[in-house]
Amino acid sequence: MSHHSDATLASRVDRLLEAAFRACGLPADTARSVPASRPELGDLQCNGAMPLAKTLGRPPRDIASDVAAKLRDDAAFESVDIAGPGFINLRLSTTFLATSAEDQLATDDAGIVRQNAQRVLIDFGGPNVAKPLHVGHLRSLVIGESLRRILGALGHHTIGDVHLGDWGLQMGMLIAEIRRRWPDLPCFLPEPALPEGSLPLGMDDLQKLYPEAAAACKADPARMEEAREATAALQAGHVGYMLLWRAIRTISLDAQRRDFDSLDVHFDVLLGESDVQSLIPGMLDDLRRRHIAVESEGALVIEVAEASDGKPMPPLLVAKSDGAALYATTDLATILDRAKRDKPDRIVYVVDQRQALHFEQVFRAAHRAGYADGIELFHAGFGTVNGPDGKPYKTRQGGVAQLGDLLSDAIDKARERLAENTEVDDREALARLVGMAAIKFADLSSYRTSGYIFDPERMVSFEGRTGPYVQYACVRICSILGRAIERGAATGAIVVDAPAERALVLDCARFPDVVTSAAANLAPNEIADYVFGLAQTFSRFYNECPVLAADAEATRASRLALCALTRQVLAKGLWLLGIAVPERM
Ligand code: ARG
Repeated sequence: MSHHSDATLASRVDRLLEAAFRACGLPADTARSVPASRPELGDLQCNGAMPLAKTLGRPPRDIASDVAAKLRDDAAFESVDIAGPGFINLRLSTTFLATSAEDQLATDDAGIVRQNAQRVLIDFGGPNVAKPLHVGHLRSLVIGESLRRILGALGHHTIGDVHLGDWGLQMGMLIAEIRRRWPDLPCFLPEPALPEGSLPLGMDDLQKLYPEAAAACKADPARMEEAREATAALQAGHVGYMLLWRAIRTISLDAQRRDFDSLDVHFDVLLGESDVQSLIPGMLDDLRRRHIAVESEGALVIEVAEASDGKPMPPLLVAKSDGAALYATTDLATILDRAKRDKPDRIVYVVDQRQALHFEQVFRAAHRAGYADGIELFHAGFGTVNGPDGKPYKTRQGGVAQLGDLLSDAIDKARERLAENTEVDDREALARLVGMAAIKFADLSSYRTSGYIFDPERMVSFEGRTGPYVQYACVRICSILGRAIERGAATGAIVVDAPAERALVLDCARFPDVVTSAAANLAPNEIADYVFGLAQTFSRFYNECPVLAADAEATRASRLALCALTRQVLAKGLWLLGIAVPERM
């Protein structure tokens, strides 16, 4: 049977605090514990007396000492002290800590407390057909996958949707370019056909072709016109273009699937812009009919400005004067489609922060039109990935860095690091795992909306705030547990004695609260910070408290259980970041 926790250590303490506040005739809304700011004075502290003092007109220390007197009766606390203006410092009893640690160890998921399940659609990845994945997509993939795992672990039903950029001008550019180079392809004949395997192009060719096509269009208005015409013909259902488009899409998606696999990123639906095109004419009619969309200089727009806007909010353009639909039109239709198909409670868009205005406009338009009733729409934006010079990361050749370049830069560096390590058989597989941990941790440990510097040298280091450091901590614990099994040493009842044991139990106990908070803020960096801190706490424990070499068998058994608990929490935390832990390194 699966075993989940229904309360965290902090929430158990909060319940005791609430009861004590009430027993003193005080309102309980400030009866909350936070981690102690000075661990030498306690494990947790409650700052609730200070705000109460103001509303009740009583000295905060008086309030605090009333509450403390009640708390002292409880076996959960070893000591309850008042400090400063009225801080209540709580030191938990060793029994309470040991029971809490054992409860957490007995859960399946490191004590994560399930929430009321919501249906959450996560729109992430967003690669464009025929264009290689670049650094921006890397962030979207890494953050989106982590959010998918975090929300899923809390019991939500998540739907990961890649939202392929598979429609629009870029496809027209490519078709026009292919037509110039291979005018005799069967898809360009009056009776078009595209027999299996007849396309003389692979993904590598497409990736070369696209930038050349885009550059030609930019330089030459006639070429741009050609691309526009091809786009219009495609959108009007030109049979040959459709065949070609589908073939390109397949080639591209196959390549992208390999990238997703190598990043260990998973999608539930691989839908794209093209999949909602058939909804657009009806949607525009509906918007027109209900006067939500209005003509403006020949184009069709939706006013989205609100009285409370601090800065100007331009109307959302949903059809150009020639009738062509836009990126925003597709996003609006996608909301309509998802509302029907997936019935989400929330849609989270993991997309570059530079698209913030676009999403604000689309969300407002969707709500105005009644297309998102009961759906919370949220743009989880992210900042840019920069090189060591602080400018957007470039390849060694100076081009825009593609996903493959980033991965191989990190994996190369990881391989160099591992060079002296002779113990591992499959060094290549290990280099990949370490390189991936390096990339993901570096990305996820910086706050989502701020950019970060992509520095493969630093991020594969086994020292400092890095993925490999945390990964290594986890592997080391596994090897301690492995050696214990070899020697027939078993885990046993947890006894909390040494300060480093107490610190470790308290740190592990925080994990479920960190996961809840990371989900509320859509901020995987909270988990990254946490696992790094826990790895350090463990390392202090391991230095101060011999495990296999412990004097007494009971002590060894208890410490092994603490190792098992830490491993469970670290491995779960890393998993939530999308980071896999090798067996050895
Ligand atoms: N394809 C877009 C790009 O590369 C990202 C798509 C994001 N998702 C969305 N629903 N607009 O910028």
